[in-house]
Amino acid sequence: MTVLDTRTSIAPATTRVARTRHYLMCAPEHFEVTYAINPWMDVTNPVHVERARLQWEVLRNTYLSLGHRVDLIDPMGGQPDMVFAANGGLVVGGRAYGAKFRHPERAAEGGAYAAWMTQHGLRLTEPVHTNEGEGDFLALGQMILAGTGFRTSLQAHIEAADALDRPVVSLELVDPRFYHLDVAIAVLDDGNGSAPADIAYYPGAFSRHSQRTLRDLFPDAIICSETDAQVLGLNAVSDGHHVVLPSAATGLAESLRDRGYTPVPVDLGEFLKSGGSVKCCTMELHR
Ligand code: ARG
Repeated sequence: MTVLDTRTSIAPATTRVARTRHYLMCAPEHFEVTYAINPWMDVTNPVHVERARLQWEVLRNTYLSLGHRVDLIDPMGGQPDMVFAANGGLVVGGRAYGAKFRHPERAAEGGAYAAWMTQHGLRLTEPVHTNEGEGDFLALGQMILAGTGFRTSLQAHIEAADALDRPVVSLELVDPRFYHLDVAIAVLDDGNGSAPADIAYYPGAFSRHSQRTLRDLFPDAIICSETDAQVLGLNAVSDGHHVVLPSAATGLAESLRDRGYTPVPVDLGEFLKSGGSVKCCTMELHR
């Protein structure tokens, strides 16, 4: 009898190479849920302040221990969502495109992040159109994937392309649970090293034509299950090798391992109460 060793039929995983990254974070000093601007937020479900602080510290220390640089912006009183640094703008190659928030509750954050960017020598384009920074813009290779449907306007996609001098691919989000692009797609490899660009995504978050765009652009992408997407598993941050992701997304972690990545699970459960997780708390300043 021939016993087939199925392992030999599995192609060896690509060797993943980490690249040192530069992040911006904001301590959750004023973090709480005092308004509801997405389906995750429920003002009657209070944030455990001390637990949130510890979870955020673990995330920051995770980046530092992986060798990345983490800058901090001062938290502003009265801005409970400012901890979600990804929304503060989009920085690529020394240029910055500022955020202009959809909801008045978050409007003041735009100016705070813009001020930080100019103080740090970035060439800032002030936005005319509504956009929520890296929440809806994902830099990948030479292009930018851009989400619209809930927060960021289509006009902002054009404005961003102009401000950053990069081509933008617009994608339409249709499921209110996945109101930002960074909860529907995870960039695993930005394609700026030796490996090709690589993403994971949850197709159900997108309109039919955007699902087709994603299939055409990324035929080999990891397809994330609804179960993993529902715990915001795609709200992950990758350095090309280590993928820091919400610990509840166990199926996605397994798929990442199969592909040669090293999943680094962290628990950001308190931030889920506001509809955010790992990536939301992290702005990457792309070279
Ligand atoms: N409560 C925040 C909001 O609804 C969460 C933002 C999450 N950030 C993100 N990059 N997805 O605006």
